[in-house]
Amino acid sequence: MKNITVVGVGYVGLVTGACFADLGNRVTALDIDEERIAGLKRGELPIYEPGLEELVERNLAAGRLLFTTSYEDALQDAEFVFIAVGTPEGGDGEADLKYVSSAAESIGKMMSASCIIVNKSTVPVGTGDWVADVITANQDQSIPFSVVSCPEFLREGSAIQDFMNPARTVLGSLDLDAAEKVAQLHLPLRAPIVVTDLRTAEMIKYASNAFLSTKISFINEIANICEALGADVKEVATGMGYDPRIGPHFLDAGLGYGGSCFPKDVKALAYMAEEKGRHPQLLDAVMEINSDRRRQLAEKVRTALGDVNGKNIGLLGLTFKPNTDDMRDAPSVDIARLLSDAGAKVLAYDPVGMERAQAVMPSVEMVADPYSLAERCQALVVCTEWNEFKQLDLERLSEIMPVPLIVDGRNIYDPKVMAGLGIRYFGMGRGYGPDGNPLQETSG
Ligand code: UGA
Repeated sequence: MKNITVVGVGYVGLVTGACFADLGNRVTALDIDEERIAGLKRGELPIYEPGLEELVERNLAAGRLLFTTSYEDALQDAEFVFIAVGTPEGGDGEADLKYVSSAAESIGKMMSASCIIVNKSTVPVGTGDWVADVITANQDQSIPFSVVSCPEFLREGSAIQDFMNPARTVLGSLDLDAAEKVAQLHLPLRAPIVVTDLRTAEMIKYASNAFLSTKISFINEIANICEALGADVKEVATGMGYDPRIGPHFLDAGLGYGGSCFPKDVKALAYMAEEKGRHPQLLDAVMEINSDRRRQLAEKVRTALGDVNGKNIGLLGLTFKPNTDDMRDAPSVDIARLLSDAGAKVLAYDPVGMERAQAVMPSVEMVADPYSLAERCQALVVCTEWNEFKQLDLERLSEIMPVPLIVDGRNIYDPKVMAGLGIRYFGMGRGYGPDGNPLQETSG
């Protein structure tokens, strides 16, 4: 059992804290947001993440997980202090380090014994060195400490599963003894451990997110070409994915990436490159292809309906991906805006995200279930691939929609099944006409 403090109880901090507690450590999770901490002490979570509520409850009850707003209490016996605060996007695409900075200042001021600072937040390359300087500058008396970078690779919606079964643990530090101690903490997770220097570890995180974003933009570019040539991108991706050099993951074409990580991290990496006089051509193209997807989907709806002005359009799914209520950089927000600007009335249904969504799209009417939505709409637009939508009674949909039309931004339906039901169907990069037959425009 180790004494661990986690600074920040957002997605990363809360999942990291609860999981380390579940592995038998004594974890104190700190946040300066008093309301959040008071809620957590009562077992109320500020975010939706499958399995997290039970994990927090169990470890609170076992006394392994404590919540506090006091740095003094949190640092008293801490052997490891994880920094897991947000690094939002700054004005020009650079990461804004104000929360990391204030966490480091407070740690420096309140530290009473030697400990290892472990940075989990996604931070620009070089931040680990800077954090060490900030802590030292804020110490009244010199207390030794080391900084280790340990980037997180959790996905929202499967964060606990990802934490407990990581593909790898990356540790960066100039102090190999400190890195070894952090490695020991991760041993129960039985994953390969990559030990390197601070800057390289920080870069591994950006490079990983940028590569995954590139895969998504690549398949979306192929989708565009498939659409023009009469091929089906879903089958193309399946055929490509069997090659182990390519792999089957992150080849789902559709609306592109959103959320709180990929958009901000690709931008931040491009910013870091430009600052040093490098031209990040590929990253620029990845971002451009990604933002085009939302516009292209709105255009598809316009083309399918002739004109959207005065029509009711229903969005199926609002969150940036399934199994989360996170609306950050969700494609649905841009799509709703583009359709409203063109004169449509936008309605929507999402299994868990409607409350949060309403705050960012106040003019969109939220509807209680997919069928009530379908009854009132001239077109349904799939923005998020929730399982619930994969299991809809499509026959019923085809009967209750005034003129059945689905524009599927996530390619969850089979064009042939749709054609069989008499539903006009448009996917993303699927070279099928609304009759479910392949387009025959490939001659020449
Ligand atoms: C992502 C990474 O997957 C995590 O490894 C990383 O730790 C995290 O960012 C982070 O930096 O904190 P996350 O943003 O939760 O995790 O979600 P993903 O499941 O990776 O999906 C990101 C976006 O890509 C979503 O909008 C999703 O719809 C989209 N996506 C994903 C596609 O459009 N196609 C795909 O094939 C896969």
